[in-house]
Amino acid sequence: MARDYEPPQAKARALAQKVRNMTNQEKLLERAKSSLARLDNSYAYFPEEDTPLFVRGKGCRLYDADGNEYLDLVAGYSALNQGHTHPKMISSLMKQANRLTLTSATLSDVKVILAERLAALSPIPDSLVHFDLGGARAVEGAKILTTAYTGKPKVISFSNSFHGRSTGSLSLYNADTFQHLWNVPRDYYTVNYPHCHHCPVGKEKASCKYECLNKIQETLDTYHDIGGIIVEPALGARGYIFPPKGFFKRIRRICDEHGLLFIDDEVQMGLGRLGKMFACEAYDTVPDIILLSKSLAGGMWPLSAIIGRKEIMERIRPGVLGSTFAGAPLACAAGIAALDVLEEEHLCDRAVEMGAYFTEKLRARLENYKVVGNIDSIGLAIGIELQLPNGDPATEETQKLQLLALRNGLLLQRGGPSKNIINLIPALIITKAEIDEAVDRFEKYLNMVLKEPEVIENFTRSAEKIAN
Ligand SMILES: Cc1ncc(COP(=O)(O)O)c(C=O)c1O
Repeated sequence: MARDYEPPQAKARALAQKVRNMTNQEKLLERAKSSLARLDNSYAYFPEEDTPLFVRGKGCRLYDADGNEYLDLVAGYSALNQGHTHPKMISSLMKQANRLTLTSATLSDVKVILAERLAALSPIPDSLVHFDLGGARAVEGAKILTTAYTGKPKVISFSNSFHGRSTGSLSLYNADTFQHLWNVPRDYYTVNYPHCHHCPVGKEKASCKYECLNKIQETLDTYHDIGGIIVEPALGARGYIFPPKGFFKRIRRICDEHGLLFIDDEVQMGLGRLGKMFACEAYDTVPDIILLSKSLAGGMWPLSAIIGRKEIMERIRPGVLGSTFAGAPLACAAGIAALDVLEEEHLCDRAVEMGAYFTEKLRARLENYKVVGNIDSIGLAIGIELQLPNGDPATEETQKLQLLALRNGLLLQRGGPSKNIINLIPALIITKAEIDEAVDRFEKYLNMVLKEPEVIENFTRSAEKIAN
């Protein structure tokens, strides 16, 4: 006991010394440890000591508390299509903050203006708009509307999809990582999302007849409590995986044949990301309900929208959906500014142009890397899949790459059923110079990872598996 005794003054001095030697970032992380619950995504992707903690953002750049700069290729998972702190967005928000911030249960002028703009832009004819707080709540609202309209409580949803973390949204899809929430109702039947590089039913692309969708018909033949199909225009949170062009049209046809509602969850892929204002337009398909959130208010204020055919939107009585802050004037003013920026800066066209530039550059630069399985994209949504020599997912290597990039100031997102896809989701305002920089740095960090002894060993083991 006596030997371990340290006088309180010495302890305090040692602590003070430790704190003096810490960077601002480390000090903030220490404080976070003792105040923040580790329950959400801010703690999900990196080891605790590497958890990024930012104090400032501008365009595609983020800055930490020590002034270190990061190139942000995640853009708040597509909530920042207009980039960080866009001046027009800030000025609209400030103006609105001086006019009216919240009315709660009543209407505001900006709410009407934003609803009009969205309804006019939407490909759904004769549509009405409902605003809510975020993606998961929009999904829940769509579920309630679908049940009310069709009288059927369940939906068909897709493998590896993501529709949010609230109980209502979790009840609509097979959220494997959230299975511990075992008492969430299972109001869904799972069918395969088309993942053509790894066809879920073992078919070849050239002779594909969408056999992966046969399970939809089988499910509909077996169960008669299905009111709709909820689907993402490309898989987002679970890895940037893009379906073939005709997929949405097929879903439309099935919905028409069976009287189902087509719920298009564009929370991540909508509003310019796929090169069109609405992602469904990239597939020339008109759903019955479109869900938007994320960059709907340019990342400035929580906002989501359900846009649906009038007769669906009028099926439930007022007051069933909503929340104190849903569609607040501040959110709607940010939403109007976000649409203005999208239109004035031609961000849909820009997504097409920059997406093609980014993808081609990545393909050219990485074509000789066996570790790069596939590079796929639509607009400025790009997925880079990493694989081992025997074709198995290079999950650990992808994780290492993401962490190494972070430590060097490049923010990447990782997803995919096996977590071996790097999702590139930059703000749509990204420049060619930033893309050039991103490609250079991506290749550099990839090379660094490939030289790590553990990685070399893993690759050798995998190559031996083919030889045997
Ligand atoms: C397609 C999709 N739907 C719903 C959600 C849930 O949105 P939120 O996180 O705003 O609740 C997300 C979030 O990533 C998403 O990508």
